[in-house]
Amino acid sequence: GLVNTREMFAKAIKGGYAVPAFNFNNMEQLQAIVKAAAEEKSPVILQVSKGARNYANATLLRYMAQGAVEYAKELGWENPQIVLHLDHGDSFELCKNCIDNGFSSVMIDGSHLPYEENVALTKKVVEYAHQFDVTVEGELGILAGVEDEVSAEHHTYTDPEEVIDFAQRTGCDSLAISIGTSHGAYKFKPEQCTRDASGKLVPPPLAFDVLDAVMEKLPGFPIVLHGSSSVPQEYVDIINTHGGKLPDAIGIPEDQLRKAAKSAVCKINIDSDSRLAMTAAVRKVFVEKPAEFDPRKYLGPARDEMEKLYKHKIEAVLGSNGKA
Ligand code: G3H
Ligand code: 13P
Ligand code: NA
Ligand code: ZN
Repeated sequence: GLVNTREMFAKAIKGGYAVPAFNFNNMEQLQAIVKAAAEEKSPVILQVSKGARNYANATLLRYMAQGAVEYAKELGWENPQIVLHLDHGDSFELCKNCIDNGFSSVMIDGSHLPYEENVALTKKVVEYAHQFDVTVEGELGILAGVEDEVSAEHHTYTDPEEVIDFAQRTGCDSLAISIGTSHGAYKFKPEQCTRDASGKLVPPPLAFDVLDAVMEKLPGFPIVLHGSSSVPQEYVDIINTHGGKLPDAIGIPEDQLRKAAKSAVCKINIDSDSRLAMTAAVRKVFVEKPAEFDPRKYLGPARDEMEKLYKHKIEAVLGSNGKA
């Protein structure tokens, strides 16, 4: 069945790689994730946001994720290492509901709360979750950008002085930190970037000094990076030349993520890149084959493109291939 993140993260830290956490809310995304993970023999975290759960229906999602384990075995993956994880849980009740409905891991995101309230809420979720061997991700620091209803204008980097107290008092199993990543396809404003010789935008580097300071305080503790899509320019270009409009979309360069994956960062969250792959593929079919109206004829290519993207992340960025 589904597994929690405990052993998975311990292995990833020792091995110097990161486990991909891919968001899904529909069948094609799930098929592409499972196929990529099975063929790469990569541990994988299936990640569901509150919005995704409302979109897809909690019961359907539960059985889809369980079905994913069976599907992985059919694909020849003998011992699938698959986690079903709640992304950005915003209340004890939502986390409890997911734990009661088959999730093997949850995130409680109290990062927007005052510190003591974040500690109290996270601790409450951990106490409930651990009774069922469900692992819990907490968060310290605020990412710029939008996540569900909450939005922040600027990053508040994680304060390394808080992490020992937070980990000890909450008992959380992993910690999401803020070092300059952000959610969505517009991670940096053009004025925050420089330009290379060809005029391409080059974003500022992540705050690896903050990551180093956190790792020094919590040696061997699993660290999580949200907002880690790279916003591949090829997808943005296809979208923009096939009727879309994503001006100045920009993500985290892959070399920054490669570097992070070698550290105690053992979970890297990717959602936007999958959305871009899907949208680019669908737009292309609509423009090139305007007579198609069978959803399989555009969602099929979209699924193939996502599978390719997931395999690339696993092999060329996170290094989790062959680890499960
Ligand atoms: O962190 C946000 C994830 O990309 C999920 O986004 O809330 O639109 O499903 P969502
Ligand atoms: P991206 O928007 O960069 O894909 O981040 C996803 C994420 O952090 C989900 O929690
Ligand atoms: Na790592
Ligand atoms: Zn996130």
